[in-house]
Amino acid sequence: MKAILITGGAGFIGSHVVRLFVNKYPQTKIINYDKLTYAGNLSNLKDIEGHQNYVFVKGDILDAKKIRSTLEEYKVDGIIHLAAESHVDRSIRDPFAFAKTNVLGTLTLLQEAKDFWGCSLANAAQSSKKYRFYHISTDEVYGSLDFDGSLFKETDRYEPHSPYSASKASSDHFVRAYHDTFGLPVVLTNCSNNYGPYQFPEKLIPLMINNIEHNKPLPVYGKGINVRDWLYVEDHAKAIDLVFHKGTVGQTYNIGGFNEWRNIDIVKLIIRIVDRELGRAEGASDKLITYVADRAGHDLRYAIDSSKLQKELGWRPETTFTQGIEKTIKWYLSNKEWIDNITKGAYKRYYKSMYANRK
Ligand code: NAD
Ligand code: TYD
Repeated sequence: MKAILITGGAGFIGSHVVRLFVNKYPQTKIINYDKLTYAGNLSNLKDIEGHQNYVFVKGDILDAKKIRSTLEEYKVDGIIHLAAESHVDRSIRDPFAFAKTNVLGTLTLLQEAKDFWGCSLANAAQSSKKYRFYHISTDEVYGSLDFDGSLFKETDRYEPHSPYSASKASSDHFVRAYHDTFGLPVVLTNCSNNYGPYQFPEKLIPLMINNIEHNKPLPVYGKGINVRDWLYVEDHAKAIDLVFHKGTVGQTYNIGGFNEWRNIDIVKLIIRIVDRELGRAEGASDKLITYVADRAGHDLRYAIDSSKLQKELGWRPETTFTQGIEKTIKWYLSNKEWIDNITKGAYKRYYKSMYANRK
C-alpha cells in the first residue's frame, strides 16, 4: 500500500497503530485522520510526529467532503478505521453521539471509500488486490457470557446491550453490507478489552491507577465480579498489522488476550503494584475500594475465542499480563504531565457527573 488512512489515530489504540505503521513502513504514507474529541490527543504521537511518512489531518468522519479530499490528496489505497466514541458509560448518557459517530460516521467513510476506489461487485476481484478497508470492532457486539467457560466465536449471533455496543454492531453490519453489495474489499476484527499506555482515564485500568496515586476512592461497579479479557494494546496493534496485510477479504477475526480477570481482582492487583512503586506499605490503598451502583445493562463476562486468527495467520499475544500491567502502571506513574494535562478541566467535570452521586 502507498498511503494508508488511519481514522482515530490520536486515540488510545489508534496512536499505537499509527506508531507501529509509521516505523515499520517508512515507504508508506500514514495519514492520521482524527477529529480530536476529548479522547484524541496528539501528544500520544510526539515521538513520530516529525517522521516524513506521517501526516495528521484534523477531520470528522461525518464530513464526507473532507474525507474525499483527503483520499484524493494522498491517493489513499488502504483505510484502517478506528475512530469512534468508545466509552460504554458515556453511551448510556448520550446514545445519539454514538449513533452519529459510530454508525453514520462509518457509513460516510464506507461511501467515500467505495466511490473514490470505484468499487462494484463487477470489479470486486480487482479491487481486493489494490485496496483494503479495515474496520476495527469490539467483542461487546456479541453481548454477554455466563461463568461457564464459553467463548465468543466469529459466528456468534450479535446481541449488543449498551448503546456503545449497539452502535458498533450496526457499523459492523454496514461494513459487511458494503462488501456484499458494492464489492468493497473489507476485513473486520472484534477485539477484547485493551490496556496499556495512552488510554484515557475514563476506562477501568488507567482510572484506578490515577485514583490510587491520588488517594481517591476506587469506584467498583456492582460486586466487582464482572469479567473482562484483557489484551496489551501493542499486541492488538500487531494483530491489526497482520490482518490488514494478510487477512482474507470479507472475513472477520476475533482478537483476544486469553486473559480473563474479575474487575475486583484487577483492582487489587493494581493497588499492590502502585503501592509498591510509590513506596507505600502493602495493601495501604485497599481502603480506597468503594463499591458503587452498578452500570445499567452491565455485561457479566467477555471472553474471546481467537483460534481462527491463530490458525489462519499465526497470531498470538506476546505480552503476558504480568509484564503488560507492570509496564502500564510504570508508564502512568512516570508520565505525570500526560495524565495531569488530561485530568484537569473537562475531565474533572466528567468525573464529577459520572461518580459524585453514584451510591
Ligand atoms: P479512544 O476513545 O481512545 O479514541 C477514539 C479516537 O477517535 C479519538 O482520537 C477521537 O478523537 C477520534 N474520533 C472520535 N470521533 C471522531 C469523529 N467523528 N471523526 C474523527 N475522529 C473521531 O478509542 P480506543 O479505545 O482507542 O478505540 C479505538 C477503536 O477500537 C474504536 O473503534 C473502539 O470501538 C475499538 N475497540 C476498542 C477497545 C478498547 O478496549 N479500547 C476494544 C475493542 C475495540
Ligand atoms: P471499561 O474499562 O469501561 O471497559 P468496558 O465496559 O468496555 O468493558 O470497564 C471495564 C470493566 O470495569 C467493566 O466491567 C466496568 C468496570 N468499571 C468499574 O467497575 N468501575 C469504573 O470506574 C469503570 C470505568 C469500569
